[in-house]
Amino acid sequence: MVYFIGAGPGDVDLITVKGRRMLQEADVVIYAGSLVWDAHLQFCKEGCEKHNSASMTLEEVINVMVKAENEGKLVVRLHTGDPSIYGAIREQMDCLDEHKIEYTVIPGVSSFVASCAAIKKEFTLPNVSQTVIITRMEGRTPVPEKEDLELLASHKCSMAIFLSVQDIDKVVEKLKKGYGREDVPVAVVYKATWPEQQILKGRLNNIAAKVKEAGIKNFSQILVGDFIEGDYERSLLYHPEFTHGFREGSK
Ligand SMILES: C[S@@+](CC[C@H](N)C(=O)[O-])C[C@H]1O[C@@H](n2cnc3c(N)ncnc32)[C@H](O)[C@@H]1O
Repeated sequence: MVYFIGAGPGDVDLITVKGRRMLQEADVVIYAGSLVWDAHLQFCKEGCEKHNSASMTLEEVINVMVKAENEGKLVVRLHTGDPSIYGAIREQMDCLDEHKIEYTVIPGVSSFVASCAAIKKEFTLPNVSQTVIITRMEGRTPVPEKEDLELLASHKCSMAIFLSVQDIDKVVEKLKKGYGREDVPVAVVYKATWPEQQILKGRLNNIAAKVKEAGIKNFSQILVGDFIEGDYERSLLYHPEFTHGFREGSK
């Protein structure tokens, strides 16, 4: 059996209880060493075989899994954040299907929610935005045309942009056109929950300069939208006049 586990954004205590338990029981661990904090490995049992997938191909990863499975070993594939987001797990699962190897996915805390927690905000505010767009700029990996950042930003909702801080000028340019304003609040969170975490706050018209001045080139979330600054309406759910299935309101 192979367990795909979300390690969380950094802080080793942000893995799920179930994920930690499987990590402790694993005979073989394949971890995404470029993003997963290796402090997670201190929880592995003695003799656990560890592979850093940063320098491996998909084929090499699958070979390790197949060999371990044939030896009746328990394999953990440790991904950063939540494995379903830019985790490249689908291709691994398809290979395991071909080999008739069973697997389970244990979700994790994605870096976009960890970054929102770091800035102590809420993506979804009444009368501001009820939608979060998770996306990235095209890089060496293309992005479908209809998901272009400018087009997505035209919805003017909350956004979490992965894998793009190295192109901050281009990101800002597209967002300005999409939102149709230059004063939209932005927070760039570098290495959320790691000891070296940095938070840069600004607006579309000044965030690029701040990012460059801080020398940030990777490992960041770009959070964008009026959920970061500004007014909002209080929720109906906790309003004294509002009646719902669990509470009678005063009106
Ligand atoms: C390959 S993606 C993996 C995303 C991951 N599956 C998740 O759910 O967070 C890597 C990108 O996620 C973002 N990222 C991952 N960990 C982060 C962290 N601790 N703080 C800020 N951004 C992070 C960065 O944009 C980074 O370039």
